[in-house]
Parts: sequence; structure tokens; C-alpha cells
Amino acid sequence: MSNPPAATIFQAPELVPRSRSLAACNTLGLASQAAACVALDHIEQLDALSDLTRRHAPLLILGGGSNMVLPPQVPGLVARVALRGMHLVQEREDAWIVEAAAGEVWHDVVSACIAQGWGGLENLALIPGTVGAAPVQNIGAYGVELADRFDSLQAWHIPERRMVRMTAADCRFAYRDSTFKHAQSGEWLIVSVRLALPRPWRPVLDYPDLQRDAGLSAGGPPSARAVFEAVCRIRRAKLPDPAVIGNAGSFFKNPLVDARMRDELAARFPGLVSYAQPDGRYKLAAGWLIDQCGWKGRSLGPAGVHDRQALVLVNRGGATADDVMALASAIQRDVMARYGVTLEPEPVVVRG
Ligand code: EPU
Repeated sequence: MSNPPAATIFQAPELVPRSRSLAACNTLGLASQAAACVALDHIEQLDALSDLTRRHAPLLILGGGSNMVLPPQVPGLVARVALRGMHLVQEREDAWIVEAAAGEVWHDVVSACIAQGWGGLENLALIPGTVGAAPVQNIGAYGVELADRFDSLQAWHIPERRMVRMTAADCRFAYRDSTFKHAQSGEWLIVSVRLALPRPWRPVLDYPDLQRDAGLSAGGPPSARAVFEAVCRIRRAKLPDPAVIGNAGSFFKNPLVDARMRDELAARFPGLVSYAQPDGRYKLAAGWLIDQCGWKGRSLGPAGVHDRQALVLVNRGGATADDVMALASAIQRDVMARYGVTLEPEPVVVRG
């Protein structure tokens, strides 16, 4: 009788930090060099990552680099999250619970869910970036944000080397904000996210752009796929594709102001675009404010303002973080001078 084959013990590849260019790892396409970079593609490597952070600090965790302004030289350690996989965890009466690993491309997960017939993420189609980055800024578009479709996530606490499951309350989601944006850089690494896709599915069509979409208004009640396709159409028409021209999506958050300020501004500027919030405040359309200041389509050096959506700053070729931030500051100054409103950048600006 032959011996049974020896059990093979899986050994994840060792994490060896190497210097590398991050130009292809940030959607603004800024030239950037990491002194030490590792790609994390197995959860078995998390302990080794915690070890490495003792020798290399600070730690910068990079997903799709779609919401970051990277300096020419990134000090410390860069960990690119390349954990992959997606599966159905549970078929609940009120929701499909789908888990996706942090390194999956967000739009691929949205498409896969639509292909399975699980609606709920269609308004969030084509948002650049990875699954692990989605909770950090609580991505949102066309009346839906991640928090609305969130079950829980698993995150590795890097200094204490423990895996934690976090609920929406733990994540403290708010408009383009979460606890992860305020944690110390390199404290948490999001490993996977569980999404709750509602059953029965109902379309969310309140957003003006969706109501105007001719393809959607024709015929009876739309399917999740029809909404998905409409969102893709609208985004492709308005927002630049980072593969064609470097950008990080909306560069500023839509500012929140109190009702008195909004009324004063509306009296002085009759076209002012504002949205009432549940707490009585108003969100102003930053794109409108920037557009009215005459910035749409303009450039300052190699950094520019997109010609179809003034909220998006673009790299017209060879821009550095300083170029982008100089443009951002000029826009902030003009908006402050004209409207008395502070614009806050949406992306994470990494220090060199
Ligand atoms: N507007 C202008 N000129 C411009 C841009 C916008 O007048 O150049 C006006 C529009 O006509 C509209 C209003 O401003 O009346 C709002 O514009 P839009 O509907 O394009 O949305 P937004 O507020 O500029 C937000 C998100 C986007 C998201 C869209 C759709 C933020 C910071 N941005 O943009 O998110 O796709 O709504 O839901 O909340 C992102 O975060 O990267 C992003 C693209």
C-alpha cells in the first residue's frame, strides 16, 4: 500500500519591500515613487505586514489609487491591496449578502451582481477604485451611497494584529466620510466588505440626471440592469475616464451650509444649486460654484478643470501633486472670495 500524499501546507509568498513607481497605481497619473512597496495578495501575509511596519513607517495603504494625490516620493512603506474573491454569503429573506475581497475592482463587483440578477448597486456603477476603498470615503452617486448597501466589513488592525468585524455603526459613515478617514494612516487594513442587496429590489431614480435619461423613461418600470446601463451612460458622458485622462473623480466635497447662509446666497445668486439635508442644512453643488467662477475647462500649468464637470480636476500630462494642489488652492480662493464658502478636498492628499 502506498503512503498517502503528504499534506501540503500553504505558504503565502514572502512580503519583500521594493522600490517602485506608483504612476500606474493612481488614477490622477501623477509620477510618484515608493521607497518600499509590497503587494498583499493573501490574508496569511497580514502578520508579516504588521512586522514590516515596525521597520518602515509610515504605512500607506493603496487600493485603486482613485482618491489620492500622491507626492513624487512616498516615504515609509506602501502596501498595495491585491486580495481577490467574491461570493454569496447568505440568501436572507430581506437581502442577498455578498462578500467581496478588498482588492476587487468595485465596478466589476457591481457588474457581477447585476449579471446574477442581484440589484442594489447599480447607481454606484463605474465608480473607479477597489472594494476596500469604497467604505473609506463611503462612495456615493445618484442617490445611493455605500452605507445604504452595507452589511459589515472585516478589517485587520495593523498595530494590534487582530481581525475585527465592523458594522455600519462602527464605521461611522457620513457624506464621503467614515472612521477610516480619521484613523491614523496605517492603522486599519480593510480585508473584505459584505454588501446587503435588498430583496425585493426597488429602483432609486430620484436623481435629476436619472429622471432626464430618455432610455430609462421609455417603457414600464426599469430593471436593475436598465438603471445600471443608464448610470454608465450618464457617467461616461460627464466624467472623464481615468484610463484616458488622469483624474480622481470629484476633487471637492459638496459643502454643507446652514439655511440662513443658503438663503442669503440664493438671494444674491438666483441660479444657486442646493439640496436640503435631513438635518436642516443645505448641500451646495461645488461643481456649480466652481463653474460660475469661470474655472470649467481652464488650466493652471499641467493641471486643469474638466470641461464637462467643474468638480473634476485633471492631469493634462506630467502634472505633479504640487501642480494639482496649486490649482485646487486657486479654485478654493476664488470660491471663498465670491461665495464665502470653504471647499474641502475629497481625495486623501499624501505627504511626501
Ligand atoms: N454643475 C454645474 N457645472 C459643473 C458641474 C455641475 O453647473 O461644471 C451643476 C449641475 O448642473 C447640477 C449640480 O451642479 O445642477 C450637481 O452636479 P452633478 O449632478 O454632476 O453632481 P455633483 O454634485 O457635482 C456628485 C458627486 C459625484 C456623483 C454625482 C452623481 C460629490 C462630491 N460628487 O457630484 O461623485 O457621481 O453627484 O451622484 O458628492 C465622486 O465622488 O468622485 C463623484 C464623481
